[in-house]
Amino acid sequence: MSALSPDGRWGGKVTSRPLPDARDELAALDPSLRETLAEIWWAQSATELRVAGSFGIVHEALAALDADAPLVTLSARAVDDEHRHAALCLDMASRLAGRALAPPPPLPPHHPHHRAALDEAERRSLYVIGQCALNETFANAYLTTAFRDTTSPLARAAIQELLRDEIDHSRLGWAYLSRLPEARRARISDWLVPLTLTNLREWHESATTHSHAYAAHGVPAADDVREALAETVREVLVPGFEHVGLDVRALSQWVRAGMPTR
Ligand SMILES: [Fe+2]
Ligand SMILES: [Fe+2]
Repeated sequence: MSALSPDGRWGGKVTSRPLPDARDELAALDPSLRETLAEIWWAQSATELRVAGSFGIVHEALAALDADAPLVTLSARAVDDEHRHAALCLDMASRLAGRALAPPPPLPPHHPHHRAALDEAERRSLYVIGQCALNETFANAYLTTAFRDTTSPLARAAIQELLRDEIDHSRLGWAYLSRLPEARRARISDWLVPLTLTNLREWHESATTHSHAYAAHGVPAADDVREALAETVREVLVPGFEHVGLDVRALSQWVRAGMPTR
């Protein structure tokens, strides 16, 4: 795991690289496929904007938890990153549609309340862990699958741009966990199954809805995403939580039971 630099960056950036000129690529696509892909990227723009709001909550949580300054700084940058992602997705949607599209209406805020949390500090910790170590790590799995299967140069450039930031966002969660006070570890360990289960269920519901028809154009197929998410639980989350000193026995048992999400 990379160390944070004093200003909270892992070689991050503040602007997107321009997408390649793709007029020839787009002109060769079937119009109905273009329209469908435009709708998918347009919807993704709304999701990215909602994640920007979630990172606002993560930022407040880290500040209130008196977390290390680089983590607080990085979480503020993540808000900007997600706004940039929303703009990038809207740009993709507009290019595919062949006209400038208006931004999608904002989605209602979405973050769990963790009513069973012991206190406000535990609740804030759960926001950070859920959004960064879980949601953004799953986002990496999704985008890595998308990148692997995409042949479109335009979509590959956009996915690469998103992926670069989401890796940093997940590292934020793992860095926070590695600094978790000893006194909190046992209770956070008890949260691993509900946190992972809920997050995985949301990914299943939102990201596993497409056939193989769009995989070459940046939208991975449902079965491939599900496989990548499951592999991430087994190969990244369980060993990662164990590495930072959490008790993963219950989580491992849930994995062995087939990762039921109901
Ligand atoms: Fe994003
Ligand atoms: Fe992100």
